[in-house]
Amino acid sequence: MAIAIRLLNASDSIADLTALLHSAYSGLQRLGFNYTAVDQPEEVTRQRVDGGECYVAFDDDRLVGSILFRRRPRGCAWYEQPHVAAVHQFGVLPAAQRQGVGLQLMRLSEKRALETGATELALDTAEGATHLVDWYKRLGYRKVAIEQWRDKTYRSLILSKQLGS
Ligand SMILES: CC(C)(COP(=O)(O)OP(=O)(O)OC[C@H]1O[C@@H](n2cnc3c(N)ncnc32)[C@H](O)[C@@H]1OP(=O)(O)O)[C@@H](O)C(=O)NCCC(=O)NCCS
Repeated sequence: MAIAIRLLNASDSIADLTALLHSAYSGLQRLGFNYTAVDQPEEVTRQRVDGGECYVAFDDDRLVGSILFRRRPRGCAWYEQPHVAAVHQFGVLPAAQRQGVGLQLMRLSEKRALETGATELALDTAEGATHLVDWYKRLGYRKVAIEQWRDKTYRSLILSKQLGS
């Protein structure tokens, strides 16, 4: 796959991005995790995208992945520290998974974090999604907190990586 990654622009379809997220997160839904991206409506995708830098990955003209980078994330004590950036609504189309697209999106976000003066990049995921927790740990992320988000059926781990060392 020849993957091109760029910022979402005004002519990109929020409907397509929402459909990509629903598709990417369908496996987590089957495991019983009600992540926001499992069924978020287009308005929620739009609101979230407007709160950060949304990157989209294309394989030719097919949207295959996305990640939302936020330099000043909100929502928990770890996120609200000035040196911490975070990523959200991170997904790759099931047919395109395990081919390195997700890693490229994470690396780009780590680069953006450093470029914008952050020294930590953080994210949250379900404590019970052990395949994800293990993957993030292999990428250098460590557990820094546990949160119970409102309306979620699971506890979330806040994972964070110290950058540039
Ligand atoms: C998590 C997610 C975004 C990762 O994206 P991805 O494109 O599948 O990630 P990568 O391909 O970069 O890496 C995933 C695995 O594929 C492996 N891989 C990467 N390139 C590969 C290749 N060419 N051939 C075989 N395996 C490969 C990686 O080593 C990694 O395996 P590991 O678990 O053994 O380390 C994606 O799986 C996804 O959308 N999952 C559902 C939604 C989700 O979980 N979102 C995150 C919520 S916090």
